[in-house]
Amino acid sequence: MELIALQPTLNGLKGSIEIPGDKSISHRSVMFGSIAQGVTRVTNFLPGDDCLSTISCFRKLGVVIEENEEGLTIYGNGFEGLQEPNELLDVGNSGTTIRLLLGILAGRPFFSSLIGDQSIGKRPMTRVTEPLRTMGAKIDGRKNGEFTPLSIRGGKLNPINYNMPVASAQVKSALILAGLQAEGETTIIEKAESRDHTERMIRKFGGEVGKDNRKITVKGGQKLIASDILVPGDISSAAFFLVAGAIVEGSEILLKNVGLNPTRTGIIEIMNQMGANLEIHNNDENSFEPAGDITIKTSRLRGTVVEGDVIPRLIDEIPIIALLATQAEGTTIIKDASELKVKETNRIDTVVRELTKLGASIEATDDGMIIHGGTALRGGKVSSHGDHRIGMMLAIASLICKDQVELEDPEAISVSYPNFFNHLNSLKN
Ligand code: S3P
Repeated sequence: MELIALQPTLNGLKGSIEIPGDKSISHRSVMFGSIAQGVTRVTNFLPGDDCLSTISCFRKLGVVIEENEEGLTIYGNGFEGLQEPNELLDVGNSGTTIRLLLGILAGRPFFSSLIGDQSIGKRPMTRVTEPLRTMGAKIDGRKNGEFTPLSIRGGKLNPINYNMPVASAQVKSALILAGLQAEGETTIIEKAESRDHTERMIRKFGGEVGKDNRKITVKGGQKLIASDILVPGDISSAAFFLVAGAIVEGSEILLKNVGLNPTRTGIIEIMNQMGANLEIHNNDENSFEPAGDITIKTSRLRGTVVEGDVIPRLIDEIPIIALLATQAEGTTIIKDASELKVKETNRIDTVVRELTKLGASIEATDDGMIIHGGTALRGGKVSSHGDHRIGMMLAIASLICKDQVELEDPEAISVSYPNFFNHLNSLKN
């Protein structure tokens, strides 16, 4: 395992960055390109490890996918074009790949086996396997289908009326993808509104999906037609530089082409609430996924409470919000976020443990954390624990530490942001 030394930055961060493609939308572009009829071209695809796992799984299902300079070309033949794989489908570290793929495979009349890395082996799958079984898929796996390895034999599906017990876009999307193959109309009621990239993509591919508040309806048997997809930049990646710009003295950063889908912009709302010096320009709200540019400058911040319906709209940004809160005046409370325990790591534990090592005053609670702000951070030896977002949060923390930070397992960052360190270094003066 690699160990890298990160030095504090002596000057402010200055310059601009083109934010790499959105991970959630990149996954879905491969999936929809594969189940639609015709040739889908994807531009600004994120070549992160997670999205490469999705490509590899769909190739094993018989889909021709070419990778080129601009992105991808996918030759889709409809749901019926998918073929029984003769190898294991390995999803690597990617929860989105396995959960959405299960939704697709639930309606396919063949057998598949799915595996992933050590972290995937600890993540709960009953949240998708149980409703998919109710629809008619035959699923087995370790601990009765709670954990990988999993096997699935799909086929004829009945629609369901499902009240989701967790706020999860992955579960919602898996059920929508199964619903597209069911005989009749599927209804899903969300616990809180989560990212709606799947719904937007169905419409982009010529299909229909109903939305009435937290109620989503989708009819089975729809034909999806290939469409060209321009993937906007990932606000979850931009978040690391939004926080870096806010907490490093003397900074001004322009983040270009940031996805601004309202189901993802919780971080902007919270940063505004905390008093961040942030400005949005050129927001193109008419595109199928809105995007714009953001300028962030060093900010005087105050603590806040992060809770309730905003949580699913910033769930992946909580580690970096925790770092931001260490530099705000007063206390920040994060609650209603127990989903953090089942991410790539238990992110309540890993955030609290690693930031404590750097001198932060932070406590874990049952459903979040409490951060006492205004603390100067020192250096130390920390680890990503194989979690990309923990790795990037610690690298941003190192910019304001008094001494050197040694970061163990920085390789994990390539899951969502292979160019992260190049971009960070380009802002140092
Ligand atoms: C994602 C949904 C979220 C998020 C993950 C990506 C998606 O997970 O944390 O990084 O692409 O649908 P949950 O559905 O488990 O909340």
